[in-house]
Amino acid sequence: MASGGLLSAVAGSIPVVVFELDPAGVILSSTGSGRAPLRSRESNPVGRSVFALYADAPEVLTAVRRALAGEAFVATSRVSTPSGERTFETTYEPSFGSLSGELTRVIGVALDVTVREQARLEAVRSIALLRALAGRAQSEREAERTRVARDLHDDLGQVLTALRFDARYLRRRAGGLDLLDPGILDRRLEEFDTLAARALQNVRDLAANLRPPELDELGLSGALREVARRFEERTGVACEVESTLSCSAEALLVADHATAAFRIVQEALTNVAQHADASSVAVRLSRGRKGVDIVVTDDGKGFEPEKVRCGALGLIGMTERARVWGGELSVIASSGWGTRVGISLPFGDPSAPSQ
Ligand SMILES: Nc1ncnc2c1ncn2[C@@H]1O[C@H](COP(=O)(O)OP(=O)(O)O)[C@@H](O)[C@H]1O
Ligand SMILES: [Mg+2]
Repeated sequence: MASGGLLSAVAGSIPVVVFELDPAGVILSSTGSGRAPLRSRESNPVGRSVFALYADAPEVLTAVRRALAGEAFVATSRVSTPSGERTFETTYEPSFGSLSGELTRVIGVALDVTVREQARLEAVRSIALLRALAGRAQSEREAERTRVARDLHDDLGQVLTALRFDARYLRRRAGGLDLLDPGILDRRLEEFDTLAARALQNVRDLAANLRPPELDELGLSGALREVARRFEERTGVACEVESTLSCSAEALLVADHATAAFRIVQEALTNVAQHADASSVAVRLSRGRKGVDIVVTDDGKGFEPEKVRCGALGLIGMTERARVWGGELSVIASSGWGTRVGISLPFGDPSAPSQ
């Protein structure tokens, strides 16, 4: 292939615009497949002033002024077209007369980098989102630690202090046990027993809050029935749990995935309580393509997902929790029509180490 043919083949396959400007900024030529999205704003730009054509693109005008002042450089500029904004990375190369040394023209090569720019912006957005999620995870952990510390200090601390008090009393009196009224001894021991039972209950509650024991004892659907019962008690909103999962299918779900499903449903129910104004909510579990499908549907006021404020991390956190384990989350909602949160989680690999 001749080099001219090769050049035009290359120019045809990459989104580039090659143009020439005269010293006043009039376009002398403009060609290349990168022109396609620009055609709707300027079908034939030759003979027209770049300052008139790009009056709405300040970045282009600034760059052209620099080039017409004799500077060679690369600049990024955004241009709006009826089909959306395009980003160009343009190399400006001024030419000068060999005798006069004056600028004769500027050659520009503009590469359409819109796709790359969109990917970059997407990456920037994702990083910001990840930081926000990490921040939330951090503050949730801190809140959890504060709560555990408070419970330990207030509940358990008090009970154990009282137990020590009783134990000391009994020790003091042990030397003269025969002097001790058996009625008093019995009452003290009974108190001792009650306090020990309370301490034990406190420890159980603490552990239960850290990790829901129902999940290990009752399996996912059983644990969700417990959650539903407590939700009904707390909110007065009817909550039914229906499962067509067989016990053997449920047993295939590895612990991390069951915990993720449990937490996501908890969060979905928290949203129903906080935002939905619903009279009933249903949690349905079934066998999915690769694992378990769960759908949480409420008959509340719904919402417009695209209008959710950007600081709201609940739904994003739920989605990320599902994704971590190879699952997916979908939200179908519109104002006035309730909300449906769909969760799919694979069964998981039982031989993989638990995290
Ligand atoms: N079940 C629901 N019914 C009505 N609105 C909901 C429901 N779930 C979520 N939303 C809306 O979506 C928004 C984002 O939810 P979320 O990400 O959990 O953040 P947050 O609960 O902190 O506001 C809520 O503020 C609410 O407007
Ligand atoms: Mg929420």
